[in-house]
Amino acid sequence: MDIEKLNKQFGQSSPEVLLRHFLETYSDRIALSSSLSIEDQTLTDMILKINPKARIFTLDTGRLFPETYQLIDKTNLHYGIKMEVFCPQTEALQQFVREQGINPFYESIEKRHACCQVRKLEPLGRAFKTLDAWICGLRHEQSVTRTEMQLIEWDEKHQVLKINPLIDWTEAQVWDYIKIHHVPYNKLHDKGYPSIGCEPCTRAVKFGEDIRSGRWWWESPEHRECGLHKQ
Ligand code: ADX
Ligand code: SF4
Repeated sequence: MDIEKLNKQFGQSSPEVLLRHFLETYSDRIALSSSLSIEDQTLTDMILKINPKARIFTLDTGRLFPETYQLIDKTNLHYGIKMEVFCPQTEALQQFVREQGINPFYESIEKRHACCQVRKLEPLGRAFKTLDAWICGLRHEQSVTRTEMQLIEWDEKHQVLKINPLIDWTEAQVWDYIKIHHVPYNKLHDKGYPSIGCEPCTRAVKFGEDIRSGRWWWESPEHRECGLHKQ
């Protein structure tokens, strides 16, 4: 696959044009992986307006905020869908918690990655068995770890085409879309949480602080990824 050519072809297209092309090309072998962020909610709205039966899945780590579970439900009702939910494997998770405790992630980066592995990456691996292409809500602006990411990439690790339709959008553009199209969003955003992951690993940030500084805040910025996305 000629990734460079695809990036040239769609570099100036709107996210909707890009999405329509790939949704038609990959049919039921493409899905949005949604963390219910403002970016993912924007993409959910765009995607379901193109194809109301398109696939959207989320990784339920078991440690999400109550507000995030409420938003999964609200989104399902709003669009008349049932988002696919991938959960950790019971035995593997029980074993992990038995050996490491319930909140081992504060102790070391290794333990944090091990938790993300069992709660996010293994379920994501199962999702990939059904996919040739995945759509993500990544943006350059989000983090020092994301400045090199491309609109369209080949994900060597997971062997799928990765599509980031909002890669060069600003946060203000995303909020404009949410407000104009009345897209449901996580109420925690109104309480100082710009980026939301698992509850024990996310905290509110002060006005003007980096948008991801509340994620894994005890680690240095270059480590603040969970392994879903290569750096
Ligand atoms: S994370 O890697 O730090 O957790 P972030 O929350 O910024 O990532 O989300 C970036 C993109 O990764 C999202 O737009 C989404 O495509 C994917 N993603 C992150 N968390 C999840 C999740 N729990 N379920 C599904 N996709 C997710
Ligand atoms: Fe575990 Fe925190 Fe990773 Fe969630 S973000 S899977 S709680 S380490």
